[in-house]
Amino acid sequence: MIRYGIIGCGNVFENFQVRPLMSTEGLKVVGVCDIDEKKVKQVQEKYNIKKGTTNYYDLLGDKEIDVVIINLPQHMHVQPCLDAAKAGKHIYVEKPIATTLEDAKKIINACQQNNVKLCVGHQRRFINVEMKAKELIKQGYLGKIFKVRAIACWYEECEIESRKWLLNFELGGGGPLMRWGIHKTDTLRYLLDQEAIRVYAEADRFVHRREDITVEDNCVSLIRFNEGTIAELEVSNSQYEGGFSRGETIEMWGDKGTLWYQPSTGLMEFYSKKKTNVVNEDSFIKLKLEPDHKEFIRIHRKFIESIEKDLTPPVTGEDGYKALEMVIASYKSAKELKAVSLPIPVKS
Ligand SMILES: NC(=O)c1ccc[n+]([C@@H]2O[C@H](COP(=O)([O-])OP(=O)(O)OC[C@H]3O[C@@H](n4cnc5c(N)ncnc54)[C@H](O)[C@@H]3O)[C@@H](O)[C@H]2O)c1
Repeated sequence: MIRYGIIGCGNVFENFQVRPLMSTEGLKVVGVCDIDEKKVKQVQEKYNIKKGTTNYYDLLGDKEIDVVIINLPQHMHVQPCLDAAKAGKHIYVEKPIATTLEDAKKIINACQQNNVKLCVGHQRRFINVEMKAKELIKQGYLGKIFKVRAIACWYEECEIESRKWLLNFELGGGGPLMRWGIHKTDTLRYLLDQEAIRVYAEADRFVHRREDITVEDNCVSLIRFNEGTIAELEVSNSQYEGGFSRGETIEMWGDKGTLWYQPSTGLMEFYSKKKTNVVNEDSFIKLKLEPDHKEFIRIHRKFIESIEKDLTPPVTGEDGYKALEMVIASYKSAKELKAVSLPIPVKS
């Protein structure tokens, strides 16, 4: 049994993580920490968690804890990650790994030096329809993929009183690109099995114009990958959904086939010229993989296994770094009005 301590019990913990964690075989949450004492008590009572503290060093010094999850606002990931690595705890850090490439590197190095496992919270790789897409690509149904379009666009009220940091670059936030576009940069890299070499982006704020909001509300990035694929990434939190707007989708075109899918509904449309038992020549297939919402369980099962068997974690620090690098490159490109080459030079 791997024992977990949670640092930060805000939105991601309460709305996404806690239920899957409670039902993941092989792990037990034994401690929680938040600077908000009331929240700690509530969480302990609600989920029957033994230990609670407002000081994360208490969890790091606790011999009973093997893994810590860092759920703090993203600009605050670096210090607790360095401290946790030094304390010999394995780390699951929420996405983005950090808000700068320098911090991301520090986290990766600290984990290597202290011989602890690091997993970054890009759980969306383990959504069932996303896994199906990966399988189809691996089996060659699309052939050589030359173009991808990843869309994550919807409307969101920016009235997040308790999470003001989100809306402000200076407070460590980021717009839709940093918040959920980074899941897409991870997905692109994961599905294509290629590295980004050049990014050109345009970003702006059109709709959310309050003075306290300094982050973009729309961004379009063009990303060139090392085997030639061109990807277009569109993110928005100010696009009303309706009619033609499909929220979140991935579209891919290869020299043998075409794939479209929608993670939120599990709908997939797929055409391939490759003949097999499953897909006949020139066939067009529509599938629906009912979302099972088990992606958090899958990533943690794999993470636990990587700790127990000394394997590579399901999403490594390097994966988190590369996903962040495409986001940073997009912001840099939008600011400097020019294409940015990757890798971006970083002092180590
Ligand atoms: N994987 C996903 O799909 C997903 C979804 C949402 C958010 N996230 C990520 O999760 C992270 C947290 O986001 P959130 O939306 O939960 O933010 P949040 O602001 O709702 O929660 C952060 C929590 O950390 C606590 N906190 C702040 N400083 C602390 C400290 N020094 N010690 C202990 N606790 C402290 C706050 O009181 C708060 O409860 C971010 O990196 C975010 O990008 C990931």
